[in-house]
Amino acid sequence: MNDAKIIEKTIEHVREELGEAEGGHDWFHIQRVFRNTLLIAREEDVDVMVVSLAALLHDIADAKFHSGDEKIGPKKADSFMRSLKVPAKTRKHVVKIIENISFKNSLDTRKKPFRSRELEVVRDADRLDAMGAIGIARAFSYGGFAGRKLYDPDISPNPKMSKAEYKKSNGPTINHFYEKLLLLKDKMHTDTGRKLAEDRHQFMLNYLEEFYREWNGSA
Ligand code: ADP
Ligand code: NI
Repeated sequence: MNDAKIIEKTIEHVREELGEAEGGHDWFHIQRVFRNTLLIAREEDVDVMVVSLAALLHDIADAKFHSGDEKIGPKKADSFMRSLKVPAKTRKHVVKIIENISFKNSLDTRKKPFRSRELEVVRDADRLDAMGAIGIARAFSYGGFAGRKLYDPDISPNPKMSKAEYKKSNGPTINHFYEKLLLLKDKMHTDTGRKLAEDRHQFMLNYLEEFYREWNGSA
């Protein structure tokens, strides 16, 4: 199978698998991450097949929706790529990226992190989708899904959470801005990612300012 055909088959598979996923992790999230990945990759010396497959397969089974099982996503991606006879070197690299891409795994200080430029490209693309107008929509969608409050002035955010604290946190959605979304701008790896992140970051700051203004009943 040639590369174009592999990508086409993968898109088909992911669309099917994620058909019933909630708003923040559905096929359209994957589509946005895939597009941003290609945009960022244009300026980078990376293996386009690796970043494409990783972008498409990175959320194939999120641990949050599988009783916290972090192995199931990489495993599913691996067996799917085997079924398409993706070359072993590409397949293994993609699996590594999926194992290491998430924000909460980046909070895990016990493990020596895997690094590659390909991982950094896909991670930037995924992080961009947690920022700006889309990021705000996804945060409130997730908050609703998890039964969180919008905001509670008596519960302060904790921007220095460990992986364990982050996973069991059930604070209001506004706190998530301080615990993750506003930290992303300084965690970008590529120039294109950084540039796009700046705009989205500023948009979130403006949004918060307006949110508090309305909350406090001022005109
Ligand atoms: P990661 O796997 O990198 O930790 P997630 O899968 O948790 O990222 O995040 C998916 C989406 O849901 C993101 O847009 C993220 O901002 C949002 N999200 C995650 N946790 C929360 C939360 N506690 N409150 C609001 N939104 C959240
Ligand atoms: Ni994602």
